[in-house]
Amino acid sequence: MRNILGLAFVLASCLPALADEAAISRGASVVDEWCRDCHVQAGETATENMAPAYEDIVKRDGRDRAYLKKYLKDDHFPMTTFRLYDKEKADVLEWLESLKK
Ligand code: HEC
Repeated sequence: MRNILGLAFVLASCLPALADEAAISRGASVVDEWCRDCHVQAGETATENMAPAYEDIVKRDGRDRAYLKKYLKDDHFPMTTFRLYDKEKADVLEWLESLKK
């Protein structure tokens, strides 16, 4: 009985981490599908026609979770034609946050 409780505890404490990982990888796919046309890859420099890499964006001052969440809520110029579902935005947010680590 004790072992079962212990096991249940271990499983329960792993679940939030697993959920995060799943959201992060879903967010990565959304970004690969919709968000790479204008943003350069990590390590590349932004140009006149290309927006900065996400890895650089998240390092800017004030790009905390709340900022990024709000940013994703509104459409950003020139990507006015892109519409993500709320769930996708939430996943992209987790992915962006994961880049900070
Ligand atoms: C049509 C081109 C284009 C596409 C597609 C695009 N972006 Fe951008 N994005 C830009 C431009 C231009 C900027 C502004 C550049 C800057 O902040 O230096 C920007 C800036 C950003 C920023 C930084 C905001 C800030 O204030 O620091 C984030 C975050 C971002 N984009 C996320 C995304 C996500 C997520 C997607 C996919 C849903 C996406 N972008 C798709 C062009 C695009």
